[in-house]
Amino acid sequence: MKEQARENVRLLRAGRCRYRCDMIPSPAEKKARYTTAREQLHALWEDEPDLIARMAAGACILHEAMPHAFWTGFYRVLGPQLVIGPYQGTPGCSRIGWGKGVCGTAWATGTSQVVPDVHAFPGHIACDSRAESEIVVPVKDARGTVVAVFDVDSAEKAAFDEVDREELERILAAMM
Ligand code: SME
Repeated sequence: MKEQARENVRLLRAGRCRYRCDMIPSPAEKKARYTTAREQLHALWEDEPDLIARMAAGACILHEAMPHAFWTGFYRVLGPQLVIGPYQGTPGCSRIGWGKGVCGTAWATGTSQVVPDVHAFPGHIACDSRAESEIVVPVKDARGTVVAVFDVDSAEKAAFDEVDREELERILAAMM
């Protein structure tokens, strides 16, 4: 943990983490954060049927829950492409094709993508040069069709794991 903290300070000093560069939470801390986020989102979603408004709340609350993320948000399926939707963070790429990058792969396969090192992922799309790891979770409608993907990017390597995948899949299933 100390090593990670020192590395974070180094990154902050080097200007690699201008906005947020906290330690990657432990699995227990992650779970606690996701539980709080889930409760907050259920309260917000209860009164809001519009999907884009629900996504906006999701991006906001989940970004706050993940201190090690610099980009948190949605791409919506619009025809043959993913188009950027509600998000928090730096300017993202506007459109992503089917099967392209991590987001397009999550869309094409219908499965979550946990990528510990984006440089090792063939075809990764770098919208922000700080990206080191990411997780992308498909969002499906009642028939199982992918209607959006939820993307979280970190300037830290291996920031996301099975805890993130499980918790995010659970939270996002409740958004639909
Ligand atoms: N890294 C993603 C692109 C989206 S952004 O990073 C916001 C990908 O490879 O699909």
